[in-house]
Amino acid sequence: MSASTVVPEKDELLYTPDVANRMAPVFDRVSSAISEVEWPEFAPYVDRIMQLKQERNAVILAHNYQTRDIYHCVSDIVGDSLALAQKAMEVDADVIVMAGVHFMAETTKLLNPSKTVLIPDLRAGCSLAESITGADVRQLRKTYPGVPIVTYVNTSVEVKAESDICCTSANATRIVESLGADKVLLIPDQYLAKNVAAETDVEILTWAGACEVHERFTASQIIQLRKAHPDVTVLAHPECPPEVVEQSDFSGSTAALINYVSDRKPEEVALITECSMGENIASHNPETKFIRSCSLCPHMQRINLMNICQSLEGMTHEVTIDPALADRARLAVQRMLDAS
Ligand code: 13P
Ligand code: SF4
Repeated sequence: MSASTVVPEKDELLYTPDVANRMAPVFDRVSSAISEVEWPEFAPYVDRIMQLKQERNAVILAHNYQTRDIYHCVSDIVGDSLALAQKAMEVDADVIVMAGVHFMAETTKLLNPSKTVLIPDLRAGCSLAESITGADVRQLRKTYPGVPIVTYVNTSVEVKAESDICCTSANATRIVESLGADKVLLIPDQYLAKNVAAETDVEILTWAGACEVHERFTASQIIQLRKAHPDVTVLAHPECPPEVVEQSDFSGSTAALINYVSDRKPEEVALITECSMGENIASHNPETKFIRSCSLCPHMQRINLMNICQSLEGMTHEVTIDPALADRARLAVQRMLDAS
């Protein structure tokens, strides 16, 4: 029988002694979050991505739901949707890679029209963004004349262009109340809308969209969790159904949940949200025990070190915005930033 040689796949980078040496200081920095066993797999990509970032004058924005390797090893800015939108405007770079989902890359492009914005996998979508079209919003305007339309940023540019103002989970109630209206359409997340309605006197009308990750959590899961862990602090994202939020100790955007843990240092915490986030922040909060749940966002998970590397190598996939929509959509996002 003849001997066979293992040939690396075309795009596979290897953990050579050179890579190990160059990346040793990076490993020192991230070793509380990344294990020695994982490092040889990540290091060659981290190394290449760091070189490419320099060559391209690029930065990587990573949403809080990205995996630990991206979040800790290659990102320049991490945050929730609001922070990423705000900080994207402050970066001094020619190229921005969005390690997140497509609507986040579109929002970044809207706010940075002169920069090249890349998304490593065009399939990184969002069930909320898929739930509504521009034509749906035009129809809502006809059905509810005079009612202001607040659109969650988890939507397409076309939908934003038909809206009066955007919001994120970090500022939804504030944005709704800033309009001074008795009645507001808050679309397309029915659960975010119901959770906001519980916090305000403004009448909220909504749409039947939902986040496919958060809609799966149930109140009975939280009740069971509390039985098993009587001291647990339960933090829920407002995309969860209202009965889940009611069973929780606190609800807020991904950044607000992270801040709650780092500021209040609960002994035991359950994050009722996408589970990569707990993994990302566990190493920064060693005094807190994280009760793990598992609900991954399949769209966020499409982004990985290999496709970030390919994205910077080939300058793919460039996000472009229909010029006929850009100004109106930007206005809706800018109004939100001004009101935040
Ligand atoms: P945040 O704005 O809270 O980060 O949420 C974005 C998101 O997609 C949550 O599912
Ligand atoms: Fe969209 Fe939900 Fe994924 Fe966030 S977690 S990107 S809302 S599908």
